[in-house]
Amino acid sequence: MPKKEIKKILVAGSVGQIGSELTLALRAKYGAENVVACGRKTKPSKKLKESGPFEWADVTDPEKLKTVCQKHAIDTIINMAAILSAVGEKNPQLAWHVNVTGLINTLELARELDLTQVLCPSSIAVFGAGCPRVDTPQETVLKPTTMYGVSKVTGELLCDYYVRRYGVDARGLRYPGIISAETLPGGGTTDYAVEIYYKAIEERKYTCFVKEDTRLPMMYMPDCIKGTIDLMEADFSKLDHHGDFNLGSMSFSVGELAAAIKKHIPAFEVSYEPDYRQEIADSWPQSVDDSAARREWGWTPSHNLDSMTEDMLTKLGTRHAEGRLYH
Ligand code: SER
Repeated sequence: MPKKEIKKILVAGSVGQIGSELTLALRAKYGAENVVACGRKTKPSKKLKESGPFEWADVTDPEKLKTVCQKHAIDTIINMAAILSAVGEKNPQLAWHVNVTGLINTLELARELDLTQVLCPSSIAVFGAGCPRVDTPQETVLKPTTMYGVSKVTGELLCDYYVRRYGVDARGLRYPGIISAETLPGGGTTDYAVEIYYKAIEERKYTCFVKEDTRLPMMYMPDCIKGTIDLMEADFSKLDHHGDFNLGSMSFSVGELAAAIKKHIPAFEVSYEPDYRQEIADSWPQSVDDSAARREWGWTPSHNLDSMTEDMLTKLGTRHAEGRLYH
């Protein structure tokens, strides 16, 4: 299983919301030349492109992936490439292809090239009907209603299968909605929790696509990065779970989020026009029980709604004042 120290990491999906910040954090920790960013279509930011190696490769193209891995002597793949829930409902076949075939390609490469580790995130979207929605347990019924959720349950099972069947060190964690000030999320149901901050800064008003009392588990990006790297570094022999750790941090309704922003921007107004994403949000947990992650690899989040809100508004406010809110 764990064979040697991590030294050459490939981040697939490095141009996305999480990948872009994770790649920079990994470069700071392991050395810029040891972290290869990889993207499929979207142009990388200047920061991402100039801070270390960048390659064009699509997780659904195994030959290209293999060439990139061999060129850079990669021993660890972090697979952040995914089609999220809202876009996935518009194109379920694409979501399956990217999220499942893409993951199998990375797991197969791990087997073939004897890589040290593959990490691929899962999501709160694995949950659906039949499980408790408050403090949703680690082990419960998994009956997702979105193709994104179906693909993520499959991904968890695949990671666990490759651990058991082939001895591949595959790991994953169920991210809640991730909130960040750098790269915008694309195509998820939890995107409102990011958009709301931009609109508060820009227009002092926001029309939300889910109802005021919609409550979901959320996390601020610094905690997401910390959790991901902590899991990468966790001692494999201490893990009972592999591809499916619940990861909790905070849980709030849109009304509570708006109230936290109003403390800083009293004129801020939110209106509500729920669309098809309401049904997706209603099928997910409101909060999760992450005691397995806490017990097996010491997970502890640092941010709450108020500390996150203060930091988000400061960062976005500064950029807005400099005329580059969206970079
Ligand atoms: N943020 C994701 C989505 O909304 C959930 O993992 O699709």
